[in-house]
Amino acid sequence: MSTPSNPNSPNSSECRGGDGLRRLYGRRQAFRLRDRQARLVKDLLPRLETDIPAEGPIDLAALFPDTDDVWLEIGFGGGEHLAWQAAQNPGMGLIGCEPFVNGIAKLLSKIDEAGLENIRIFPGDARVLLDQLPEASIGRAFLLFPDPWPKTRHHKRRFVQPYVLDALARALKDGAVFRVASDIPDYVAWTLECMMPRADFSWTAEGPDDWRARSPDWSETRYEAKAVKAGRRPTYLEFCRNQRV
Ligand SMILES: C[S@@+](CC[C@H](N)C(=O)[O-])C[C@H]1O[C@@H](n2cnc3c(N)ncnc32)[C@H](O)[C@@H]1O
Repeated sequence: MSTPSNPNSPNSSECRGGDGLRRLYGRRQAFRLRDRQARLVKDLLPRLETDIPAEGPIDLAALFPDTDDVWLEIGFGGGEHLAWQAAQNPGMGLIGCEPFVNGIAKLLSKIDEAGLENIRIFPGDARVLLDQLPEASIGRAFLLFPDPWPKTRHHKRRFVQPYVLDALARALKDGAVFRVASDIPDYVAWTLECMMPRADFSWTAEGPDDWRARSPDWSETRYEAKAVKAGRRPTYLEFCRNQRV
């Protein structure tokens, strides 16, 4: 685990943001889309896409006219968890962020097949969206199996960074839940190192069962299934956004 005095620690000034560190790393597209997927990207995506307004925050009431709350999933991959949450919680509006086109196409297939009406998609960097969400507007956020970037020199690319958590804390409502899962022990340690000193979040775990087992209102993702098959044991972290003072 990195220590705060280490320049590669999440709490070092290197990892505090700034334009140079806000590049998006990772793949945008891996292989050609099947004809049906390409059609969905062309026809369905524009209807579900969350636009960033030229000025001011995103109008969530316009995006979801009839919802009890808005939830956010960052890096939804193939959308298994997002589609599952949307089906289980029809009263919620869900925004999924994912820059990987093949993943977006997979989610669109699920939305189309299940007739899901409560998902909107931001096909880009979740950090851009976070900055444009209204303050205290999101009731739940999920970051499931984020890219681990295991090499020390790449730790700055990890999604969990103090400046990103600042933006997330601003967007979350008081009492909102932030869930993070990872099968990489170093990423878990990194996340806790970022989260524990913060006054705006509390880790809700009361004992090991809370981080060893996924709760029933949280479905398996594709990446998680692969990790388990490979013998890696995921850790499930849940944080609460504390009351603003
Ligand atoms: C290891 S995959 C996990 C995908 C999915 N959550 C799962 O568990 O199967 C991490 C995903 O995060 C996405 N991602 C990486 N950086 C991102 C960012 N800044 N904003 C949104 N998504 C991002 C990647 O494109 C990738 O699909």
